[in-house]
Amino acid sequence: MSRSPAPDAAPIDAALDLLACPVCGLPLGRHDRTLRCASGHSHDLARQGYVNLLHGAAPANADTTEMVAARQRFLDTGAYQPIRDAVVGACCAATRVAEVGAGTGYYLSAVVAEQRPPAHLALDVSVAAVRRSSRLGLASAVADTWAGLPVLSGRLDRVLCIFAPRNPAEFARVLSQGGRVVVVTPRPGHLAELRARLHLLDVPPDKLARLDASFADVGLVPVGRTEIDFGLEMSPPTAADLVAMGPNAFHGEHAVLDEAVAVQVSVTVSSYQHL
Ligand SMILES: C[S@@+](CC[C@H](N)C(=O)[O-])C[C@H]1O[C@@H](n2cnc3c(N)ncnc32)[C@H](O)[C@@H]1O
Ligand SMILES: [Zn+2]
Repeated sequence: MSRSPAPDAAPIDAALDLLACPVCGLPLGRHDRTLRCASGHSHDLARQGYVNLLHGAAPANADTTEMVAARQRFLDTGAYQPIRDAVVGACCAATRVAEVGAGTGYYLSAVVAEQRPPAHLALDVSVAAVRRSSRLGLASAVADTWAGLPVLSGRLDRVLCIFAPRNPAEFARVLSQGGRVVVVTPRPGHLAELRARLHLLDVPPDKLARLDASFADVGLVPVGRTEIDFGLEMSPPTAADLVAMGPNAFHGEHAVLDEAVAVQVSVTVSSYQHL
């Protein structure tokens, strides 16, 4: 009987310092193709080198294969490069970085390439997304942010959360004293021209205030905030990918553009620290 080839475990080995067993919270060590804690819970590595640390049922909002493919095509156009640059800048001198809801690994891979943190971790609840991030050589695990992060307490000096679901209490738990949570959120004007034309979901005007309040509840306070604004000429196929990659994909059929449209990108990059 032939065995499948051994997974490339090198990236996950470099993240063992960060990872916690999703069942009991103890550290994990690697034994061949399995990550194991001292209580004997074991989690197999996939052939591609990522590990599934989902404990319980996957939530319904994991990105599908089609959404992840659309996201990759959209990001490959370079449209969000200024946002990526800001995220890399917010990770200056970071040593232990995780991105939650990391998607294809577009942002974290740039942080790893440019800032070279000794340990990093890409987490996402979508297997399709995690396959992509592990293909980039990122240490990657399937995990549900809302169920708790499979990360040791106080271990991270950057937690990145970019257009992805948040769990402030868990972010506060895994963050070191002096570490930062870096959150990218859209502002109400973000892609407003496209939203109006294609009848997409709106950005609530109080989004940032609600974000601050949710972090304040767990003792995390804002220590930095950058607004990023730039224009883009969006072609119909790129606009179709943008719709297909986001939450609108879960909300039925949408109109399509028949010509390129000028849009404004308006996002906020916020950093939070322990009081
Ligand atoms: C809008 S995408 C952003 C992906 C990436 N940060 C980016 O900007 O390219 C949101 C991501 O969060 C993931 N996600 C949704 N619910 C999640 C959850 N409960 N736990 C972890 N990831 C989740 C989705 O699978 C998706 O990859
Ligand atoms: Zn365990």
